[in-house]
Amino acid sequence: MQVTDMLYEGKAKKLFITEDPSMLLVEYKDSLTAFNARKKSSLTGKGSLTNRISAELLEFVGTQGVPTHFVRLLDDTCQLVRRVKIIPLELVVRNITAGSICRRLGVEEGMELKDPLVEFYLKNDDLGDPLVTEDHILSFRWATPSDIYAMKKLALQVNRILKEFFAGLEIILVDLKLEFGRTPEGNIILADEISPDTCRLWDASTGEPLDKDRFRNDLGNVLGSYREIWRRITGREKK
Ligand code: TMP
Repeated sequence: MQVTDMLYEGKAKKLFITEDPSMLLVEYKDSLTAFNARKKSSLTGKGSLTNRISAELLEFVGTQGVPTHFVRLLDDTCQLVRRVKIIPLELVVRNITAGSICRRLGVEEGMELKDPLVEFYLKNDDLGDPLVTEDHILSFRWATPSDIYAMKKLALQVNRILKEFFAGLEIILVDLKLEFGRTPEGNIILADEISPDTCRLWDASTGEPLDKDRFRNDLGNVLGSYREIWRRITGREKK
């Protein structure tokens, strides 16, 4: 795949323009950030794991009927995706309380929610990605009512598929963050990534986090946990 210019560099990924204007190359980086990049590090091999795990999971939800931007894996750290216009919102789906909802609402960690809870955050690093309501989204025209409906429906579908998939691997899907984009034809599809950087994944028997909380909370063995997720998904070891 012939790469021309870099379009954008984010905290965990770089996007490159390719010879095909409808496609982008995504390079997953080794860098890790938390708390709106106030905490930073780099772990050699992290980008390869998130690239490969994300490719597996995007492909899997695709086979289950979720439209995604994923096209194919290119190499250890790169994948090809459809170019879409990213909706400036992050959707978080929570099955169990953890992280910011506990801090914000004073609820204890580990409470199972009766139904999955969907939250919207505005994608704006300068503001620290604030929580927003559907009325904010409509007032400021970040998305239309039909976009909101489509994103929520897809987010709940992805959550349902992955919760069941991970349960079969003895992993609890606590919560996950998803982003969506609009295709040139006007359809909303799943974009960005699905990896231990963007989900909370707990070992079902021990309750140990196997995700980025190991970095956020200084629990150690970040790469080992990501490798464990890879091993359970594919049944293969990863160097
Ligand atoms: P939170 O509890 O910190 O709001 O995070 C909810 C989920 O979203 C968790 O799986 C981590 C993920 N997440 C991201 O992928 N990017 C972010 O910038 C944040 C804040 C959370």
